[in-house]
Amino acid sequence: MITIALTKGRILKDTLPLLSAAGIEPEEDIASSRKLVFATNQADVRLLVLRGVDVLTYIRHGTADMGVVGKDMLMEDGASQLYELFDLGIARCRLMTAYKKERAQLVKQSKLASQSRIKVATKYVNIAQRYYAEQGVQADIIKLYGGMELAPIMGLADEIVDIVDTGKTLLANGLEPANFIADISSRLVANKASMKVKHAELKHLTDAIAAAVSQQSA
Ligand code: PRP
Repeated sequence: MITIALTKGRILKDTLPLLSAAGIEPEEDIASSRKLVFATNQADVRLLVLRGVDVLTYIRHGTADMGVVGKDMLMEDGASQLYELFDLGIARCRLMTAYKKERAQLVKQSKLASQSRIKVATKYVNIAQRYYAEQGVQADIIKLYGGMELAPIMGLADEIVDIVDTGKTLLANGLEPANFIADISSRLVANKASMKVKHAELKHLTDAIAAAVSQQSA
């Protein structure tokens, strides 16, 4: 049995057509189901639907053989004990800092004291710590689990670090994208032991997925 862990949400929406092009079809409609494990048209392939960070945990423990996860999760959680196989080119977005329009004005006019510590709200604590350290900015990082855009509005933080896709969520909350941190897309990731023990089966699958990716980008 091959177990593939998928990241739910917008990544899942882009993943399913890719899997379909690679010949893997879930036996029921994942989007309208509350189930977390799905059989497929291939008797020896099943799918799990999880949060990105949990996808990595399942793969690290070998409970899932491979999976689909955002590069943001790999940057945050590290890629130890995993193979990052290739870029699927889906769910593309950017990791950015963002702040209120008023702060953007102050930055433009260089009216912020350059030595002062700032407060940054994010679910990407490790990425944010590395980024601000590289910039030589002293930042106190506040961990949130979602709805980061609220933090500057409510005065919890000066800035956020978050994913920006269309930019609509920032705009709707009176925030502006500020500094670019990284381009993000989803990656195919595999458990190291599985790649040895189930080499032939996984190679067959990864070849089919790679072909679907190049077909999609052609
Ligand atoms: C992400 C991110 C932003 C939003 C950006 O949240 O945290 O809130 O999408 O997208 P946009 O630029 O197109 O508006 P998501 O909806 O994935 O939910 P999450 O907060 O649970 O991660």
